[in-house]
Amino acid sequence: MAILVTGGAGYIGSVMVDLLLAQNESVVVLDDLSRGHRETLDDRTVFYQGETGNRDLVRQICAEHEIELCIHFAALTYVGESVAEPKLYFEKNVAHGIGLLDVLTSAGVRGFVLSSTAAVYGEPVRTPIDEEHPQQPANPYGWTKLMMEKILADYDRAYGLKYVALRYFNAAGATERLGEHHNPETHLIPNILQAALGKTDQVSVFGNNYPTPDGTAIRDYIHVSDLCRAHLRALDYLRAGNSSESINLGNGEGYSVLEVIEAVRRVTGCEIRVQFDPPRAGDPSRLVADATKARSVLGWAPVHKLEAIVESAWKWHQSHPDGYGSS
Ligand SMILES: NC(=O)c1ccc[n+]([C@@H]2O[C@H](COP(=O)([O-])OP(=O)(O)OC[C@H]3O[C@@H](n4cnc5c(N)ncnc54)[C@H](O)[C@@H]3O)[C@@H](O)[C@H]2O)c1
Repeated sequence: MAILVTGGAGYIGSVMVDLLLAQNESVVVLDDLSRGHRETLDDRTVFYQGETGNRDLVRQICAEHEIELCIHFAALTYVGESVAEPKLYFEKNVAHGIGLLDVLTSAGVRGFVLSSTAAVYGEPVRTPIDEEHPQQPANPYGWTKLMMEKILADYDRAYGLKYVALRYFNAAGATERLGEHHNPETHLIPNILQAALGKTDQVSVFGNNYPTPDGTAIRDYIHVSDLCRAHLRALDYLRAGNSSESINLGNGEGYSVLEVIEAVRRVTGCEIRVQFDPPRAGDPSRLVADATKARSVLGWAPVHKLEAIVESAWKWHQSHPDGYGSS
């Protein structure tokens, strides 16, 4: 029996694949490499290059491997791009997701873990954000994830597909081997580290007039290894025959953009020049998780705080100043 990991050559997916292999799980990766890196995968992983919406390919995978469960990371993930190109996001994240689900349910796969996001909540009406918080995404990216959650709820009712939708807050940090390399990079910590390395002159801070103490946006950062450990718990949870759930994954602590820049200055000892730019469309002011449910339902708790997250990312960026070989 194998676990199908879609998007397994991406940032979070690649760390997940390593963790699964370390647990002696058998892993099949499906990734179109549109945003991922072939170098992240070693030869213990069976790899299929292609899109999740390619039903023939997914059928072939299910015929060649007995897929027990699927962890679905594959998606387009840029909020700004989703505002500019919504059709791309609904196509890749929702239409392809439906194609994948249809083939998997027909093949008898009974468990599914979805990479969902804090973006399903939109501008918070209260913080920290628990799973019962109203859902009014502020951008198409958030809507695509919320739609996938709704589709899963109906597939559960109709076809008995059990799922865990994990709503990540901001993934960050690195393992020794694997780190964050997006192109373009829109995430804060790698961008600050690029400035620390002298690869860029300064870091852009989008918006300094938010209703927050220092005017910059507040986010909840969670180490990619903590995040992936939660997926292992989700697999155990599904294997134990439990009911479907949507669960937040975060540290429960919010840091403003300027506080993160300060943390990077402390860790790296580098001066970092800041440029204030207008806020990005669809970016809420404050996203901080109430992760109580992850503790009670999955028995999971994060161990890395901001400083440790930045330290791990700094180590990786120093050893991979140009990221992975490909872009
Ligand atoms: N990084 C974060 O902070 C964060 C926060 C919340 C949710 N998420 C979600 O977690 C998941 C992984 O995020 P990431 O940061 O690792 O992104 P990533 O871009 O590094 O990885 C996504 C991977 O999926 C692949 N992919 C994209 N569309 C595909 C398709 N249609 N078919 C096959 N492969 C496809 C890409 O090539 C890439 O390797 C995404 O679903 C994202 O929405 C990420």
